[in-house]
Amino acid sequence: MSNTPYTIDILTLFPETVSAVLADSITGRARARGIIDFFAWQIRDFSKNRQRQTDDYPYGGGQGAVMNAQPLADAQRAVQIHRGRKIHTIMLSPAGQPFTQEKARQLAAISGGIMLVCGHYEGVDERFIESCCDECVSLGDFVLTGGEIAACAVADAVFRLIPGVLAEEACFTDESHWNGLLEYPQYTRPAVWEGRAVPEVLLSGNHAVINKWRREQAEQRTKTLRPDLWEKQGREQEK
Ligand SMILES: C[S@@+](CC[C@H](N)C(=O)[O-])C[C@H]1O[C@@H](n2cnc3c(N)ncnc32)[C@H](O)[C@@H]1O
Repeated sequence: MSNTPYTIDILTLFPETVSAVLADSITGRARARGIIDFFAWQIRDFSKNRQRQTDDYPYGGGQGAVMNAQPLADAQRAVQIHRGRKIHTIMLSPAGQPFTQEKARQLAAISGGIMLVCGHYEGVDERFIESCCDECVSLGDFVLTGGEIAACAVADAVFRLIPGVLAEEACFTDESHWNGLLEYPQYTRPAVWEGRAVPEVLLSGNHAVINKWRREQAEQRTKTLRPDLWEKQGREQEK
C-alpha cells in the first residue's frame, strides 16, 4: 500500500454538502486511517468578481445561469499546484458517459487520485469542459439540481475499491456488477422471520453446495431482473 492516500478533490459551490456525506461511515473511517483523502474546494473562492459571482446569463438567451469558465479553471489550476501533479479531471454531467462499476475500477486505478467538478444551475461554460476536463461522467439518464450528489456517489464507489478501505477484497469482488452479474440474495438471523424461512441450503454448512446455489441465484436474478446485463454477459463469453 502506498503512503500517500488516494485523494479525490471536488470542485463545488456546496463544499459542506459533499464533506458531510463522505466524512461519515466507511469512507470517514478510511480517511482517518490515512488510506484515502478528499477535499471539497469552494469554487467561489477562485472568482475574480468583486461579488464572488461564479455564473452569468447564457449567450443566445434561455433559462437560468451558466457557470463561468474562469473560477473553475483557476480552481483546477490551484488544486494541481497544491498537489504538485496534473490530476485526471471529471466533469459530472447528464450528458456524460454513464457511470458503471467498470468506470469506478478504472478511476480507482489512477495513481494519486482524481478531481470531480460539480456543475450547478443550467450547467457549465463548454470551453471549461473542452480545455480542462479529461472526461464527462453521468450518474444516469435524469437531471439533478447540481453535481454534488453525483460527486458523492462516484467518490463513494471509487473509494471502496481502494485497498484497505473495506476489510477484504472479497467484500467488493463478490458483489453485484463486479463480474457482470447481480448478487445472490442475502439473509441474516433469525432463521425464520414472520413465517419466512431462510433457504435450507444456507444452513447446511456445506460451502461447495452454498457457493453453487449462490452462483445459480445470481444468474437467475440477473436473467430476470436485468436481461440487458445477462445478454451482455453472454456476448462477452462468446468473444
Ligand atoms: C440542472 S443540471 C444542468 C443540466 C443541463 N442544462 C442539461 O440539460 O444537460 C446542473 C448540474 O448538475 C449536475 N448533474 C445533473 N444531472 C446529472 C447527472 N445525471 N449526472 C451527473 N451530474 C449531473 C451537473 O454537474 C450539471 O452541470
